Amino acid sequence: MRYALILLLFIVSCHESTTNTTLIAAKDFETDHPGKELMKTYCYACHSPTASHDERLGPPMEAIKRHYKTTSTTKEEFINDIKSWINDPNEQNAKMFGAVRRFGVMPKQPFPEDTIVQIADYMYDYELEKPEWFNAHFNDKRGKGARKF
Ligand code: HEC
Repeated sequence: MRYALILLLFIVSCHESTTNTTLIAAKDFETDHPGKELMKTYCYACHSPTASHDERLGPPMEAIKRHYKTTSTTKEEFINDIKSWINDPNEQNAKMFGAVRRFGVMPKQPFPEDTIVQIADYMYDYELEKPEWFNAHFNDKRGKGARKF
């Protein structure tokens, strides 16, 4: 019980530091949030955090989160943006131009709406698992100090 409380405090404090745009180490927090498993089941085939940079079929979910969530994005806006992308993925609506160029537009797939809501809810609140190369690559591309997410 005491352990659970410590873990909870840890999650809460890390969550706060994320919203302050502090870059923290990759952590796949233990949680029973249903969105976590749903994301693995429905999204990791293409958005796997462990596929190597050269072998992946799409960007890691953490990269998506950083394009969709800025410090001022509310959870409601975030969930709606993910939902509207899933309902109609197309080049005009894409925010990730580099990913579209590299992988082509995400194919439209029939995901149940409540599944997407759960996944987006999880993405918004939790630090996501990301690949080893991620931070170096991300900082490289954006340049230190110019980082904006
Ligand atoms: C069959 C492969 C595949 C699956 C499965 C998949 N995606 Fe994607 N997704 C892609 C590719 C490729 C891209 C990058 C190109 C793009 O942005 O359209 C992408 C990009 C995205 C983007 C960013 C779109 C943009 O450019 O603004 C979001 C958001 C997204 N995916 C959400 C999801 C979610 C949530 C799931 C699971 C429910 C999922 N995807 C499952 C292939 C997939």
